[in-house]
Amino acid sequence: MAVLVQFSGGHFFKDWAPILQKLDPALDLREWPDVGDVNDIDAAIVWRHHYGTLTQFPNLKVICNLGAGVEHILADEELPDGVPITRVVDPRMTGAMSEYMILHVLRYHRRLDETQRNQTAKIWEYLPPDNAATTTVGILGLGELGLDSAAKIGALGFRMAGWSRTAKSLPGVETFHGKDGLIPFLNQCKMLICLLPLTAETIGIINADTLAALPEGAYIINAARGGHVVDDDLLAALNSGHIAGATLDVFDEEPAAQDDPYWTHPNVTITPHNAADSFPVDVAPQLVENIRRALAGEDLLNLVERARGY
Ligand code: NDP
Ligand code: OXD
Repeated sequence: MAVLVQFSGGHFFKDWAPILQKLDPALDLREWPDVGDVNDIDAAIVWRHHYGTLTQFPNLKVICNLGAGVEHILADEELPDGVPITRVVDPRMTGAMSEYMILHVLRYHRRLDETQRNQTAKIWEYLPPDNAATTTVGILGLGELGLDSAAKIGALGFRMAGWSRTAKSLPGVETFHGKDGLIPFLNQCKMLICLLPLTAETIGIINADTLAALPEGAYIINAARGGHVVDDDLLAALNSGHIAGATLDVFDEEPAAQDDPYWTHPNVTITPHNAADSFPVDVAPQLVENIRRALAGEDLLNLVERARGY
């Protein structure tokens, strides 16, 4: 079976092809743009594909995204109708995201950001941490990643809250949902984590109004997508001190532009979209399995619901 492979943005054919091939030697991998006869292509494995290119394969049976977030695929105005899209759900990715969140929650909680600034100025100042038991960490998005982060950060003793589209009942997490639940949720979050998919409903969700709903001195940790944040609003809230700090892994433009003001903001930590990656050895098996299932007409793993956008 012939499989189109089309990557940009940090993933490379040379890293994935040998592992995919080893899992199923029958895979005929065709690296974009050397695809041969377009009629041959049964499946596509993509990451940040070029828009308009997927429509030319009349026999395409599945589009497998190489990562968790599918907003790039769904934004393709020439996406072929009716072809199922799958995304990655992977324990290593989930665990890595929780590590990232624990790292940055604890960094703010133990005031390491301030302590590091003090060290630069040779200032010895005792900065007492708040009580974790009365510090609410709120997570926007209680999906594969948000749920794991909620459980692991909660296990450290923090008060946990979470917001999702549909109602949920979770042990140890105060849950909120839908538009009406957003402001009451935000009102209590000393630290706000964003792990939402980027959709028509969630774009720009971290904006002047929602930032104002957070308590004075709150922190933001965004590892979802840059499009969730209205940058001018976050910068204004950081400059006024209403938001004490922000850790940002994702940006509208990646790599972040050299003149992006976040780079030099004293209260911003930038990481280069490395919170939780797709590693070939861990993720390739589910891609191969989904291609097998698509060709056999079986139910697919981690199917994306196009209509809801994630
Ligand atoms: P899931 O699809 O498993 O979970 C999404 C969560 O967001 C669900 O709880 C869903 O609610 C909620 N949600 C979606 N739309 C809304 C809405 N309109 N209002 C309220 N809640 C909403 O996604 P994952 O946890 O797997 O991944 C989340 C995102 O993380 C990805 O889309 C990607 O952008 C990003 N990511 C970033 C990485 C990085 O390295 N920086 C790595 C991997 C992912 P409900 O439960 O009700 O459906
Ligand atoms: C993803 C990502 O969506 O790495 O998987 O951002």
